[in-house]
Amino acid sequence: QELQMNLEQIEKGGYEHFMLKEIYEQPSVIKDTYRGRLHANEGIVQLAGVEDNLEKFLNADRIIIVACGTSWHAGLVAEYIFEEFARIPVEVEYASEFRYRNPIINKTDVVIAISQSGETADTMAAIKLAKEHGAFVFGVCNVVGSSISRETHAGAYTHAGPEIGVASTKAFTTQITVLTMIALRLAKAKGTLSSPDFHRYLQELELIPDKVKEVLETNDVAKEIAGVFKDSPNCLYLGRGYNFPVALEGALKLKEISYIHAEGYPAAEMKHGPIALIDEHMPVIVIAPKQGHYDKIVSNIQEIKSRSGKIIAVVTKGDTQVRELADYVIEIPETSDALSPLITTIPLQLLSYHIAVMRGCNVDQPRNLAKSVTVE
Ligand code: AGP
Repeated sequence: QELQMNLEQIEKGGYEHFMLKEIYEQPSVIKDTYRGRLHANEGIVQLAGVEDNLEKFLNADRIIIVACGTSWHAGLVAEYIFEEFARIPVEVEYASEFRYRNPIINKTDVVIAISQSGETADTMAAIKLAKEHGAFVFGVCNVVGSSISRETHAGAYTHAGPEIGVASTKAFTTQITVLTMIALRLAKAKGTLSSPDFHRYLQELELIPDKVKEVLETNDVAKEIAGVFKDSPNCLYLGRGYNFPVALEGALKLKEISYIHAEGYPAAEMKHGPIALIDEHMPVIVIAPKQGHYDKIVSNIQEIKSRSGKIIAVVTKGDTQVRELADYVIEIPETSDALSPLITTIPLQLLSYHIAVMRGCNVDQPRNLAKSVTVE
């Protein structure tokens, strides 16, 4: 028993939970994920699986992304990035819906299947359906040799290392890293990004690990805020553009490990119903970086404020406007809009982690959940 305890402690690298260890591993595993693939100074980004199938990607009429849970959220971020950088139409599908709704799949479609475990049954079924229809299927997995990595025609691994915590953290950011590199590679081949923009994004992507390290230093702020909201029965997460999927992901983290009901919404969608939920008991997490649709999200925050909502805002360092309106702010380093999800998701991971710990929840193995849903 004693030995087992010590072994676990060693595996957790001194962290109280695997989830916290994995949150703090993100700077290094993002670097591991782009190592050998991203050479910013030479203006090169390449992944073997993409290079070997570049024509298929370039001739694709559209990209269909199939995934579940957090991987589906990474797919939503990828939709914004692929369409912005490479001007290829993207559809993101819940694998569990895609597999049963008799979808239209053409031979000119490229299907990207995202799965940390590479064993998710719904995602596997979606892959098989796509292959039956003659589509080219590309996998983004974290487990080498997993079923999905073997079923897909080609793929690219995230190099996040084993993710033990049921709540996915480093898999999410390394998935976005891989998908961003693919989008940049396609943009380069299609000439849909200017050369200065292309090089700027390569340089910025290379610096993301340092920015993640910097935002991890807000851990104490997240912990303090967690203490205030740990007993809230509900919570809303709002974001716009690239940070709309991050709002969904932040809400999923909180649900999964603290069992608090949480919902993510596009911030502008509030006025179409959800704002009826706002009162002084409703904490609202707003992702409001300077580079996003800042002025619009400020007015969304004002709408919430005027209904006594409690506001926790993720803002760019040095922000003053949102700081005036919010009850709490967590500052992140300045980042371009397209790469901001890699940074804005970190405070939300830390916030949900601390709330769960304070509520005495089993953070690494939340109730009712499995790390990989290998059955329907
Ligand atoms: C995310 O925190 C959950 N563990 C869950 O939603 C997970 O993302 C989903 O089950 C997909 O798993 P996969 O990436 O291994 O396919």
